[in-house]
Amino acid sequence: MNKPKLEIKLAFITGLRDVVLNEVSQYPNLHIVRERREPLYGDFMYFDFVKDFGKLTTLRSVLRAYIIAQGSRYNPRYISNHKSILGGIVAMILEGQDSKFKTFKIFCAGADSPTIRSIAEYIKNTYKLTETEEADLKIHIIKTEKNWEIGAEITPRPLSFRDYRTKHMSGAMDPTIAYAVNSLCDLEHTSSYLNIFSGSATLLIEAGQCYPNLKQLVGFDNNKKIISLAYQNIKKAGLIRKIQLKEKDIFDEPDLGRFDVITSDLPFGMSISKNEDLEKLYRCFIEYSEDNLNRGGRFAVYTSKHEVLKKNIVKSRFKIIKTLNLQFLSSVNAYLLPKIFICRLKNDKQSRLS
Ligand SMILES: C[S@@+](CC[C@H](N)C(=O)[O-])C[C@H]1O[C@@H](n2cnc3c(N)ncnc32)[C@H](O)[C@@H]1O
Repeated sequence: MNKPKLEIKLAFITGLRDVVLNEVSQYPNLHIVRERREPLYGDFMYFDFVKDFGKLTTLRSVLRAYIIAQGSRYNPRYISNHKSILGGIVAMILEGQDSKFKTFKIFCAGADSPTIRSIAEYIKNTYKLTETEEADLKIHIIKTEKNWEIGAEITPRPLSFRDYRTKHMSGAMDPTIAYAVNSLCDLEHTSSYLNIFSGSATLLIEAGQCYPNLKQLVGFDNNKKIISLAYQNIKKAGLIRKIQLKEKDIFDEPDLGRFDVITSDLPFGMSISKNEDLEKLYRCFIEYSEDNLNRGGRFAVYTSKHEVLKKNIVKSRFKIIKTLNLQFLSSVNAYLLPKIFICRLKNDKQSRLS
């Protein structure tokens, strides 16, 4: 039996490819071998296997990381007859961190068949794991376009899971998108950062954790309850001395000073903007940002209602210098096509990013 050729697979939101490539470039021994898009499930990059794959758990632009092997013969029957092929992958993931993995699940068509049941028995008995629906160790045996793929996720929770999130807030941003927005704002060379419509503070916390050079991190939201939830997250993230939140409404044009970077994840529906006319809200938001962004600064917006936003940006003093078109299935299985816009003021001299 030949040894399987192992690979690392990273899953990410469609549209964030360049952000992911930029982030993984910090690992010089990680060599990309191919890419694949699976409609609805997102995009995947495959890399030559690296022994120190544990380091990949710090990636912030990636949803999930796996160790996998692909081959035409790795169908369920073959794996059931050569269980150690899958066992080798499982053992590698559990090594040194088996206390984090107590349960497992096999994702495969025909999961109740005798073939898959025999593989599940093997995993249970060999690695002393319990089979559950919501599992720590997620093993898969799946068919890709050309090949069979076997593998497992290297962490019990997706990489996009952040332990600073104390409670779920409906409408909270995916943290990998927040990371992406911040990564396009040249924050290494920035000292002041304003987040308008701060919600549960995902953008602020990602910025505070990734860019310790930021001196001033300020956010505002008009919902008192959400601000108090955001403060719980900020505290859990260890950033209570760094991030300041204000209870303010954009229509009151709060005077908070001027900033080098302004970011926002816009309110998008009636539940969030309480029947406010989005057009009016977005216009006010753009005018406020024009007045409060320092020369040479960046204005970054994430929104699903991009037609309304773009129409107003075109009429404004902002120039769009980069657009990212994203695609993903939301947690409630809605197919979303949001965009990230990175802008600068029109009369700014050309800068590094334009
Ligand atoms: C899409 S959510 C932001 C989510 C945030 N990025 C997160 O990850 O939690 C938009 C936020 O805008 C706030 N908001 C809506 N209308 C507002 C207004 N007129 N002034 C200030 N904040 C407002 C809502 O309370 C909500 O928290």
